[in-house]
Amino acid sequence: MKYELQPLTVADADKLYDFYQTIPAAENGAGNKAHGLTKEQFIDWIKQEEYWSRGLNLRADWVAATTYVLYVDDVPVGRSNLRHYLNAALEQDGGHIGLSVAPQHRGHGYSKILLRETLKCAKEKGINPVLVFHFADNIPACKMSESVGGKLVEETFHEKHGRLIRKYAFDTDNL
Ligand SMILES: CC(C)(COP(=O)(O)OP(=O)(O)OC[C@H]1O[C@@H](n2cnc3c(N)ncnc32)[C@H](O)[C@@H]1OP(=O)(O)O)[C@@H](O)C(=O)NCCC(=O)NCCS
Repeated sequence: MKYELQPLTVADADKLYDFYQTIPAAENGAGNKAHGLTKEQFIDWIKQEEYWSRGLNLRADWVAATTYVLYVDDVPVGRSNLRHYLNAALEQDGGHIGLSVAPQHRGHGYSKILLRETLKCAKEKGINPVLVFHFADNIPACKMSESVGGKLVEETFHEKHGRLIRKYAFDTDNL
């Protein structure tokens, strides 16, 4: 099995459009803003993501973030979003990394590869520790983080969601 994590770029729009449409718009706290866009809107959205990755054109309450796509044997299977730093809102809800694996590719261990490779990108950006949050009842996500070496540092009830949130910390020096 060959795998590769690549930053999302507009050059890949054609091969990624259908893939992005298979990922739900919102699922367990992981949002996909590209779901339901036309091809032209998708291209504009990727351009915006490229700006945000460079810290440009950000709204006042947003942080710079980079979106990555995991390819397994050249097929896109999952995507992650790495926030370069946290603001007060993300410290409570969001954390550094949001990710999802497309439904048709779940159950093959790809989320663990996606998270590990995204953590390596975080390390390259000097982010340490990396915080990753999941709803406590999102069993596959919690197992993913535990398998990749995350330490459970907090479990709190989140009023807005009405659900328990688990916060995992990753020491990128140990990757
Ligand atoms: C959570 C998610 C990323 C997991 O992706 P995946 O590629 O199917 O997961 P994996 O195959 O890598 O499995 C990860 C772990 O969960 C376990 N798992 C997978 N599916 C499971 C299921 N339906 N029930 C229980 N455990 C499950 C696996 O056995 C594995 O645990 P292990 O390391 O102890 O063996 C995927 O379900 C998803 O995209 N969900 C929607 C978005 C989301 O919840 N994102 C996380 C919050 S940011």
